Amino acid sequence: MNTQIQEYAKRLKLSWAREHYHEIKADSNEEFLLQLFEKEIQQREERKTNLLLAQAGLPNASGKPFDWSEIVLAKGLNQEYLLDGKFMEKQENLIFYGGVGTGKTFLSTLIGLNAIHKYGKPIKFYTVASLVNQLLEANDKGNLNKIFKKIEKLDLLILDELGYIPLHKQGAELLFQIISMCYEIKSIIITTNLQFGQWNHVFGDPILTEAVIDRLIHHSHLVVFKGPSNRMKESLLQN
Ligand SMILES: Nc1ncnc2c1ncn2[C@@H]1O[C@H](COP(=O)(O)OP(=O)(O)OP(=O)(O)O)[C@@H](O)[C@H]1O
Ligand SMILES: [Mg+2]
Repeated sequence: MNTQIQEYAKRLKLSWAREHYHEIKADSNEEFLLQLFEKEIQQREERKTNLLLAQAGLPNASGKPFDWSEIVLAKGLNQEYLLDGKFMEKQENLIFYGGVGTGKTFLSTLIGLNAIHKYGKPIKFYTVASLVNQLLEANDKGNLNKIFKKIEKLDLLILDELGYIPLHKQGAELLFQIISMCYEIKSIIITTNLQFGQWNHVFGDPILTEAVIDRLIHHSHLVVFKGPSNRMKESLLQN
């Protein structure tokens, strides 16, 4: 009977039950089934979360609390709206603007983690440079479609560090295609140290730059990180 149960559990894809059903202690059939279903669901959710985390490519979060004291939120925004991913419900974008070490990557990582843990949403974190490199490489190999399909499945795309490295013409155009594809159908968080007026230096072409900014800011919120570098503060404190 044991092997028969295992065989059926396998066919029904009840992977927890297959190995562990005999561990359940219950006084009634209902209680037995309830516990079995709960364990099965719990294990599936854990597996899904781990998969989403592995796919997301988020940097390691430091584990310390986020300090909001130097963060300026645009009107109508609050911490919960950002952290709980409310902006994602309306496919809005977030633009994180500020100097080095002010928490842009940290906050976008926290938002990404919440989206996965609380809501099981697929997200992906890229630095702009790494995404553009992947796009260029895929373009050379003729499999650009694969990246596009991957991004199409996301609810949130995080593009970190726009502005540190200027893009070549083809890289800028490919990045524009991604931003266009996401326009009004998913959310983007973009972090940058540059004001919009300087984005031209990254994209290299004023018309393309205008088209990018237009799409990004249409349904978006600006968050300004105005503090001094926390990285610097932390390393000074350690000495
Ligand atoms: N608001 C904050 N609250 C708590 N810690 C912070 C905050 N901002 C920065 N830090 C600390 O400083 C480190 C660097 O922050 P982060 O990488 O988010 O900066 P950044 O704005 O992305 O900088 P860069 O533009 O150089 O990439 C974080 O890992 C964190 O430890
Ligand atoms: Mg950063």
